[in-house]
Amino acid sequence: MKIDVVSIFPEYLAGLQLSLIGKAVDQGLLDLSVHDLRDFTFDRHNTVDDSPYGGGAGMVMKAEPWALALEHILGGKSPETVRGEEHTVSGNSAEGEPAGNGKPILIVPSPAGPVFNQRIAEELSNADHLVFACGRYEGIDQRVIDWSAQHFDLRPMSIGDYVLNGGEVASMVMIEAVSRLIPGVIGNPESLTEESHEDGLLEYPIYTKPASWRDRDVPEILLSGNHGAIARWRRDWRLERTAEIRPDLLAELHDLDKHDRSVLDRFESGDESVKE
Ligand code: ADE
Repeated sequence: MKIDVVSIFPEYLAGLQLSLIGKAVDQGLLDLSVHDLRDFTFDRHNTVDDSPYGGGAGMVMKAEPWALALEHILGGKSPETVRGEEHTVSGNSAEGEPAGNGKPILIVPSPAGPVFNQRIAEELSNADHLVFACGRYEGIDQRVIDWSAQHFDLRPMSIGDYVLNGGEVASMVMIEAVSRLIPGVIGNPESLTEESHEDGLLEYPIYTKPASWRDRDVPEILLSGNHGAIARWRRDWRLERTAEIRPDLLAELHDLDKHDRSVLDRFESGDESVKE
């Protein structure tokens, strides 16, 4: 998968060179490029923002540097070449097969977008080319956002109902969630299957040695060697924990069997809990 990120703070993204994502880049599973938006400005002060038409607080990111940066990504040409050209581009990435309805997917982090989740991460992990446009200040001139929809599969995306100072951290969150789903990035793919959110339930609790720590014992069943009973206990835990902490997730589940329902009924009536 190819991932391009455009930011006025490219250093922010340096964390992606660490750990599993960095390894995936080294192994060629991920082709990650971070672009400095200021490389696509040509005035003495490398201006990327200006005051808003109509008044109001803060500054707005100018359209042209964004268009040049995105054209550079689409066409693989240098900032100077892109700037000197007529600004018409074909919809296709010059760097191989296009993705996302035949176009690269352009993710614009914004608290005004739909909220990113594991389902979206899975969907995006199948794309060939993701581009993240990290806005700052009050946001990006709407005209270049509208323009970009001709060339990209445009996806405004929030990572939650709170406001960050810019799109960099949000992009890193999404890049990490997406790239760990790419085959080969996580050493043991089985570790992906029973994670929180993977199948709509939260995770069960985990323990390691010693079996007794500061008078707290590991639940006996985990020492029993009875794999069927352990699997059932873990699922029951996940059901209860989800009912307790995220009942909104339970409402989305449509594949609960009879036993699952009885666990939830017991839990809801306060009769019995697997956690006791
Ligand atoms: N930019 C500012 N706040 C954001 C949020 N909650 N999600 C994504 N991008 C943002």
